[in-house]
Amino acid sequence: MFDIHKFLEPTYQAITNSRLHPWLDGFKQGINARMSDYTHGKINEWAAELEKLPDVMPDFIELTSKVTIGSKQQLSTEQQVTLEKTLKSYHPWRKGPFHLFGTHIDTEWRSDWKWNRLKDHIAPLTDKIVLDVGCGNAYHCWRMAAQNPKLVLGIDPSQLFLMQFAIMKNYLPDLPVHFLPIGIEYLPNEIPKQGFDTIFSMGVLYHRRSPIDHIMHLKKLLKHGGELVLETLVIDGDEVAHPEQVLIPENRYAQMNNVWFIPTTRMLSKWMQRCNLTDIRVLNVNQTSPEEQRATDWMTFQSLSDYLDPNDHNKTIEGYPAPKRAIMIAKRK
Ligand SMILES: C[S@@+](CC[C@H](N)C(=O)[O-])C[C@H]1O[C@@H](n2cnc3c(N)ncnc32)[C@H](O)[C@@H]1O
Repeated sequence: MFDIHKFLEPTYQAITNSRLHPWLDGFKQGINARMSDYTHGKINEWAAELEKLPDVMPDFIELTSKVTIGSKQQLSTEQQVTLEKTLKSYHPWRKGPFHLFGTHIDTEWRSDWKWNRLKDHIAPLTDKIVLDVGCGNAYHCWRMAAQNPKLVLGIDPSQLFLMQFAIMKNYLPDLPVHFLPIGIEYLPNEIPKQGFDTIFSMGVLYHRRSPIDHIMHLKKLLKHGGELVLETLVIDGDEVAHPEQVLIPENRYAQMNNVWFIPTTRMLSKWMQRCNLTDIRVLNVNQTSPEEQRATDWMTFQSLSDYLDPNDHNKTIEGYPAPKRAIMIAKRK
């Protein structure tokens, strides 16, 4: 039987050893609440599959665009076949790419492109305590680790992504990267005085029904002077006459049924300013291309090109502006 607390013991230990230690009980309560609200039917199966991973320590690690662990020569042909089969049992692989003992995990997203857009513009993460809200399988957390942070804590409610993370963690036990399988609503409302140095919330805000509450919550988890990196869907709006607009889709947006608010960057800046954040900057605005998000052998479901108007890739199939994402940076006073 899968025991989540046993599984997370190294994470609890890392939290105990950090200035976040007073909040460990709160995090554990969040895990208990989440697991009793929802436990995936395959969790025992996924945990058992982890045992099939080759028992080899990587001779090589590279935390660059293609997060690379180990080299192909370390495994026999038989082990390589087993590894690929084991990895494929964690389909769909959305965030990456990863390269594991010569097996290339060509994920749905080129998540490295997003990281490249922001990495040179954020406050350095060296010695920092970092939170990545909605981290997916923690691809960006591994990229953060290249900057020698004290602790990177990724949170995501997906138990499949927890398992994809656990695969990498199995080979990188000493890196200070950890994962809690909870949504932000299971975190404490605030961490007074000693919160996180940097918080990333990327690809989450448009899924929230109360976007200003989400931003406020992120702010309360930051320490004073800490940095928020917020990435979300935006619309151009009418820059001249109505720069502060927000699109609320009638129903689905690019086939997603959980998209609520898509603001202009001006509107988004205003939300952030109303939450008392300062030094608000728009770092980048980018329309997502079907080269950045696409179906692959590792994510065989539909992807972006299926959600766009076949005659006009600047529109979704519902007729809305095609997905465009802004990266915002701000500070807590
Ligand atoms: C679009 S993905 C973004 C992943 C990653 N941050 C990135 O930028 O590539 C959104 C992620 O948010 C997660 N998510 C959904 N609801 C959430 C919640 N309430 N709190 C935190 N994360 C959530 C999903 O499981 C998913 O992995």
